[in-house]
Amino acid sequence: MPLRAVGRGAGYSFPRAVQEAVLRRAYAGGWPARLWGRVPGALEVACRHGTLAVLPPGAAPLRLGFASDLHIGPTTPPALLDRAADLLAAADLDVLLLGGDYVFLEATDATAATLATFARRIPARHKLAVLGNHDLWTWHGRLERALESAGVSLLTNRAIRIGDVAVFGLDDPWTGAPDADAALAACGDASVRIGLVHSPDGMPLVWDRGVAALFCGHTHGGQVALPGGRPIIVPGPAGKVWPWGRHEVGGTSLFVSRGLGGVEVPFRANAEPDVWVVDVTSVGG
Ligand SMILES: [Fe+2]
Repeated sequence: MPLRAVGRGAGYSFPRAVQEAVLRRAYAGGWPARLWGRVPGALEVACRHGTLAVLPPGAAPLRLGFASDLHIGPTTPPALLDRAADLLAAADLDVLLLGGDYVFLEATDATAATLATFARRIPARHKLAVLGNHDLWTWHGRLERALESAGVSLLTNRAIRIGDVAVFGLDDPWTGAPDADAALAACGDASVRIGLVHSPDGMPLVWDRGVAALFCGHTHGGQVALPGGRPIIVPGPAGKVWPWGRHEVGGTSLFVSRGLGGVEVPFRANAEPDVWVVDVTSVGG
């Protein structure tokens, strides 16, 4: 029973270690996911659409798909992840973005294989990912290798260029070592910068720095929210301001996904799982 993080992630407290050790036993066999998967509506995934008119005139449009917080493990029904993969696979994506927190409790060979299968099922010319706090606390090397085997590039404080667009990623703001200077410098002279970071707590690192859009997860929209989607408890300071949805912040369009899976509490209420599909188009196009 590891009572400290086995990965490089900070912030893994002793109470959390004890809680996870208890849940590992209590949820053994994955019965919470099986039970939750039988509840009517529990396997629904919303596909949210957006447009980002930021490309120079005449530039080829780019379709981005974003999924986050899969939390493969005993509290997430596999059929829910299948539904999300189907939605994104049908969207004819150019770029797949994955926002981290791929597991809950621990990364095993089996959970890593499930992650690779998920990523392989979604066709896209470019597949890019960052890691989340739950990944960094566990054997994240297994997840990194699984992503790479599925053709997914990790964007930890670096960027890749896709035509006029640079897509950069930041390490997790809470448990990792985000380096916005390095990531933005790696964008070079790209006319459009689009960012990926596990949590909206990455937003203060890049606002007013010429970033057209930032994609985040982590919040689960509170996972258990009041009717209308108002969360009761959200992790992280920025998540309390931007718990889910699209927000315009300091010249940046912030997309916060509610993610897909579950963590300690093995169900959701008024916080429907979602994925995003965003068309990046020419200004005025
Ligand atoms: Fe997270």
